[in-house]
Amino acid sequence: MIDIRVEGIKKNLENKKIIVICGSKGGVGKSTLTFLLSLVFSRFVKVGVCDLDFTGSSLHIIFNSTSTFKEEDGIVLPEVLKNVFLLSVNFFSKDNPLALRGEEITDVFLELLTITNWKDINLLLFDTPPTLTDPILDIFRFLPKAEFWVVSSNSILSFHTTLKFVKLLKEMKKEIPILFVNRIFENDVKGMDVYEELAKNFEKVVFVPFIKDLESFYIDPYKLFDLEITLFNELQYLFT
Ligand SMILES: Nc1ncnc2c1ncn2[C@@H]1O[C@H](COP(=O)(O)OP(=O)(O)O)[C@@H](O)[C@H]1O
Ligand SMILES: [Mg+2]
Repeated sequence: MIDIRVEGIKKNLENKKIIVICGSKGGVGKSTLTFLLSLVFSRFVKVGVCDLDFTGSSLHIIFNSTSTFKEEDGIVLPEVLKNVFLLSVNFFSKDNPLALRGEEITDVFLELLTITNWKDINLLLFDTPPTLTDPILDIFRFLPKAEFWVVSSNSILSFHTTLKFVKLLKEMKKEIPILFVNRIFENDVKGMDVYEELAKNFEKVVFVPFIKDLESFYIDPYKLFDLEITLFNELQYLFT
């Protein structure tokens, strides 16, 4: 059976750059990187941030947003920071827990992307749940040109599972230009064989420092730019 939503999404998103922030584990910083990247990229373009972690959605919390959408030729996403527009299933589920499986996830994915008015948005960042689960498989199916930016913590466990995750993405012939190594532990990656093997798969590795009291910046994210860390410069150069 033909699903007319699929053609609509392909058409509406064909001229947008789509970056999928993904990783093989929970708690490694995927949602955090989505947030930090949107903060930096929104200096240049209008960024849509789309929370595909339907059962564990976090972006509405990170962006400290209680606002919801307006309706005008589809739903118009709330501007949660200057030039950053949020799409979250939480607009609809409110704070009720969601339990979804298989085709239901695909349905939510297609529905959210169909009803949104994407007109003004140039770049889309997809935050995803851990591992190669349904939303990522749906991106493979429906948005084949998306790039995958991979996030790992600096732990041996995370590097090992990320390596498997990356093998799969490469078998699927996906673009994986960037690895973020999020330094949430005090480990040093120097001399870690599994890190070296993983890093070989990427054009660029960006190290993300541990940011003390990160969650306190959700109220005023621009204050992050006052921190004396080179990260924001590095992230800026990822924008092309
Ligand atoms: N670089 C960092 N510095 C400090 N805290 C971090 C950093 N990266 C992530 N965190 C914290 O770790 C927790 C998990 O991060 P999150 O982005 O939700 O991971 P994921 O989306 O991969 O599950 C959050 O509480 C977040 O604030
Ligand atoms: Mg997350």
